[in-house]
Amino acid sequence: MTRYVLALDQGTTSSRALLFDREGTVQALAQKEVPPHFPRPGWVEHDPGELWSTQIGVAQEALARAGARPADVAAIGITNQRETTLLWDRRTGEPLHRAIVWQDRRTAPLCAELRARGLEDTFRERTGLLLDPYFSGTKLRWLLDHVPGARERAERGELAFGTVDSWLVYQLTGGERHVTDATNASRTLLYNLHTGGWDDELLALLDIPRALLPEVRPSSEVYGHTAAHLFGHRIPVAGIAGDQQAATFGQACLTPGMAKNTYGTGCFLLLNTGEQAVPSGHRLLTTVAWDLGGRRTYALEGSVFVAGAAVGWLRDGLGLIREAGEVEALAASVPTSGGVYFVPAFVGLGAPYWDPYARGTLVGLTRGTTGAHLARAALEATAFQSAEVLLAMRQDHAAPLRELRVDGGGSRNALLMQMQADLLGVPVVRPRVTETTALGAALLAGLAVGFWEGPGDVTRLWQEERVFEPALPGDEREHRLARWRQAVERSRGWAEE
Ligand code: G3P
Repeated sequence: MTRYVLALDQGTTSSRALLFDREGTVQALAQKEVPPHFPRPGWVEHDPGELWSTQIGVAQEALARAGARPADVAAIGITNQRETTLLWDRRTGEPLHRAIVWQDRRTAPLCAELRARGLEDTFRERTGLLLDPYFSGTKLRWLLDHVPGARERAERGELAFGTVDSWLVYQLTGGERHVTDATNASRTLLYNLHTGGWDDELLALLDIPRALLPEVRPSSEVYGHTAAHLFGHRIPVAGIAGDQQAATFGQACLTPGMAKNTYGTGCFLLLNTGEQAVPSGHRLLTTVAWDLGGRRTYALEGSVFVAGAAVGWLRDGLGLIREAGEVEALAASVPTSGGVYFVPAFVGLGAPYWDPYARGTLVGLTRGTTGAHLARAALEATAFQSAEVLLAMRQDHAAPLRELRVDGGGSRNALLMQMQADLLGVPVVRPRVTETTALGAALLAGLAVGFWEGPGDVTRLWQEERVFEPALPGDEREHRLARWRQAVERSRGWAEE
């Protein structure tokens, strides 16, 4: 009998592999950093070969750590950084360019041009997204326009486009399958949320040949098996979901009105809206939460681009701390941020502003400002950004939010979680297993092969660890949010490109 499900989590900063047992307990974890490349200001790339070699390397390492045989693994589930765009030769698997990472801003002028042509509403109505460089469609168009010969080869059907999930499935199955799932497809600007397929008119508007696109499949089914040479045993590849959707599933936010926030590089808050694709009147995204057997559940999403990355900057850019974990103690060494507001718009601003030209801003500095104040302001920035997203969500979706479930590295920071509860006015709930992204991918794969039986298992495996109750008076919350918004205004429209 099989004992494990293996989750592969290919993220922006690392490739990870986690082996889960039937109780949803992590039996082994292996992780390797994947350094991004920054060829120009605002550009962010990954080496596709590195994405794959680190991912398969940690998968093998996780098995070895648990002393597991490949035959013990019931299935592999994949979860991934979303929107990151790859183009490769369908036959040889040779990439034509580095992957363009979701954070990359190079297509801001193209987005502005499409907006000027009055096309934003068309894209928004059909895809639930906005015209921002964040999404894959304009990145793919850039590749076709800039890589010599790419367009002609694409038209001849020789090339394959994919987000990271497609790339991993292609590699895992030895080039046999070119697929994606509905959650990843819903981040491309090319997928019609309502029909559940690629949209020919949008493809025409972006000048993208259909022959490039992967087949869109549900999030939980056997897509194929691992090539024999990888594990010496053909393991079913049976689950795919973008990392934020996988986390929503792993957090057991299975009914409409339940929400989670993941504190990673960025922050991504998703609210389950059930079988209804709720359009946002406040510049949030409408996205597929998961597709189970052709039945799609939708979510509203607020995407904040920089959260943990601001702490990374305190460490790498300023040398203020040696490790990210030190930020909590440093921030807690002062009672307030001393009037300092830090808008970490390093790659522009996501929801609800969507300003690719915003840049990082520090306001309120005095001669008395110290590193501790900056550290506290960096944590507050994460809490402010998520609070703004949630406020917008409340206006789009009338049902009151009872609690916010949290996960990701930043959720271990108790000071940050308390700030978050205070600024939201809603309890913040941290589960026992904070590896919810990987757990979600494992669950999707395990459900497809009968390792777990149904949604009841997903709910059963979720357990509360700690609740942070809001403790800030409402008027104080309003005052701080108003100051934050003033600081945001100062960051906007700064970049010259
Ligand atoms: O949309 C981008 C998101 O999926 C990236 O997530 O965890 O790799 O920062 P992460």
